[in-house]
Parts: sequence; C-alpha cells; structure tokens
Amino acid sequence: MKVTIFNGTPRRNGNTAELTKCIAECLRGCDVEEVFLDGLSLSGCKNCGACQKGAMEGRCSVEDDMIPLYEKFVESDAIILASPVYMWSFTAPAVAFLTRLHALYTEDHSHNLIEGKRIALAFTMGDDEFVAAQMVNSVMFFCEYFKAEYAGTMCVPFASKDQIHRHLYQEKAKDFAAALIASF
Ligand SMILES: Cc1cc2nc3c(=O)[nH]c(=O)nc-3n(C[C@H](O)[C@H](O)[C@H](O)COP(=O)(O)O)c2cc1C
Repeated sequence: MKVTIFNGTPRRNGNTAELTKCIAECLRGCDVEEVFLDGLSLSGCKNCGACQKGAMEGRCSVEDDMIPLYEKFVESDAIILASPVYMWSFTAPAVAFLTRLHALYTEDHSHNLIEGKRIALAFTMGDDEFVAAQMVNSVMFFCEYFKAEYAGTMCVPFASKDQIHRHLYQEKAKDFAAALIASF
C-alpha cells in the first residue's frame, strides 16, 4: 500500500514533522513517502476552468511544482494531509495543495482521480484539539463530494516534541496507522 504524506508545515524539524515521522514508523509494511509542501512553487487554484473542459484529463494548466504532486497523489492508495493549525485552519501551502486537487475531477463526472482514495489528517496545534474542527469538517465534505474515503484524524494538542513522544500520543499514532491500514 502506497501512502503519501503531504505536509504543510514550514518547519522541517518542528512539531508536525515530528508527528509525521512517528506516524510513518507505525505504517509498517507500507511504502511511505513524505512531501513537504512549503518551499515549493505552489499556486492555489486560479479557477481558469481548463481542467473542467475534459481535455486536460487530470492535468492542471498551471505549470508549477504541483504537476509532479498530481502523479504522487494518483499513485497513492492513501494520503495523509498533515499541517500545523494556523488561525484555526491549514497552512497556506496546504490550502494551495487542496484547491489544486480540483483538477483531478470534472464536474460532468467524466473524470475523477480522487474517487476511492483514503484521506487521513494529522495536525499539531498550540491549543486544544477542537481548533482543528473546521479543518476536519472541510475534509469530510471534500471526501463526500469527491467520493474519497475519510480515514481518520490524529491531533497532538498543546504540541511540543515531548508531548508527541508521550505514551498517549504514541499509542494514538499506532491506532491511527492501524486504522488506515485496516481501511483496505
Ligand atoms: C501563524 C501561526 C498561527 C497559529 N494559529 C494557531 C491556532 O489557530 N490554533 C492553535 O491551536 N495553534 C496555533 N498555532 C500554533 C501551532 O499550530 C503549533 O505551534 C504547531 O505545533 C506548530 O507546528 P510546526 O512546528 O510544524 O510549525 C499557530 C502558530 C503560528 C505560527
């Protein structure tokens, strides 16, 4: 099973990267790849409509670093979208990534490369985990709309590396990974 972690954190050595490292270790037997979105040339969707005309076949007209990420997304059985919570929301690169997935689907249903993907979420936050509520909600709607399978959320509230390595969150990471694997 191929799992790609798309990580929206700007900090390669920060809390969210530490969390995804722990999750990846728990995904035994899976082919896991992590992609850091920050630092890439990654525009948000420009709503040019080209992808909706059918001829693009899952391609986007914006030629930036999202183009190879489409391939990684399509080749994955499961996707973990990871982000620190910024202003009760995803980081800017994570939002850009999400909006660009629009190109994998056409509204006339002739094309849907999102259908059937398992999509799970991993967050760290400075406050309690309820601050991720609208992010979880939006991805649940995303999954319903694009016929993907919502596969769970892992949060580390009051995040620090020590907190991530507490027994409780290590066990939660194991459960989160096991549930993702069991979803197949
Ligand atoms: C600009 C900014 C906005 C933030 N907004 C929130 C927030 O709305 N809620 C929250 O709980 N934490 C918030 N935080 C704290 C981060 O989510 C938290 O420190 C996180 O673990 C950082 O992860 P990182 O090390 O991967 O960057 C914010 C941090 C920054 C820098």
